[in-house]
Amino acid sequence: MIPDLQNVPPAPSPLSGRDCLTLGEFTAGEMSLILDEAVRIKTLQKSRIPYRPLRGRTLAMVFQKPSNRTRVSFEVGMYQLGGHALHLSPEEIQIGKRETPSDTGRVLARYIDAIMVRTFDHGDLEELAGAADVPVVNGLSDTHHPCQALADLMTVREEFGTLEGAKIAYVGDGNNVAHSLAIACALTGAELTIAYPEGHGPEGEIFDLAGSLGASPRLTEDPGEAVRGARVVYTDVWASMGQETEAEERKETFAPYQVDEGLMDLAAEDAIFLHCLPAHRGEEVTAGVIDGLRSRVFDQAENRLHAQKALLYLLMS
Ligand code: CP
Ligand code: NVA
Repeated sequence: MIPDLQNVPPAPSPLSGRDCLTLGEFTAGEMSLILDEAVRIKTLQKSRIPYRPLRGRTLAMVFQKPSNRTRVSFEVGMYQLGGHALHLSPEEIQIGKRETPSDTGRVLARYIDAIMVRTFDHGDLEELAGAADVPVVNGLSDTHHPCQALADLMTVREEFGTLEGAKIAYVGDGNNVAHSLAIACALTGAELTIAYPEGHGPEGEIFDLAGSLGASPRLTEDPGEAVRGARVVYTDVWASMGQETEAEERKETFAPYQVDEGLMDLAAEDAIFLHCLPAHRGEEVTAGVIDGLRSRVFDQAENRLHAQKALLYLLMS
């Protein structure tokens, strides 16, 4: 898809001042605006054309969990847009411990122009966002990872040119990444099937939310059924951040859900493999698949930068 570099969204942006906590705040049209803007911003970046619409603006990045991609892509993204990002570690901001989430949000909003938060409890994030009168972006909570899903679908669209009807199979834990993928697919017409072991499916509330936005994902306990004919095979770690004590037990439960060469062979001939990273080779995916020709995981990681720059620009201008 060749983006129209002159086709700059109007200012103020239609998303000006909004939050992005789940992607469920957006319409299908707004989702497509974000993805189009991400492609335009990526092309500008690749062409080395400076684009600094957020000059003099500051983003606070509140981290209660570790990160590589989210921290670096948000910080670099703000810099490239002409603004500045401030990293606040778990030692500095202890959401809900040193002060209430709403006091944290109200105070930060007096200093800065937008807040990105990575935390555990999604309710804390909602409370903080409700009190902060600047845009708040979810950089991952226990239940959602919307920025990841933007990059995921950007990657799929780059590969196949369209999302409408694209068959995506997510195999593994019905976690935050699966939830956001389900919401993003509902908004874009991509067809998602989630295969998971009993007791580890997506939350019912998310299933219903996706349904209200377009379509709920198909659910199965059979990874082969999910992957057969799919053009995208996606997996994530079996134990997310905060579930470290369950990791050993989960290895046994999820073993039949490993994405290996045999499973990939059931997918469409031109199927690609995605993973939000970090990955555990030999657990949820074999080295042969993640390091193989069908893997697009590093393009997907790069697209975090472009998709988030588009999101920040649209929410902050
Ligand atoms: N995919 C992702 O969010 O990676 P980080 O945890 O490294 O930010
Ligand atoms: N589900 C994973 C995603 C990491 C980017 C976690 O929450 O740890």
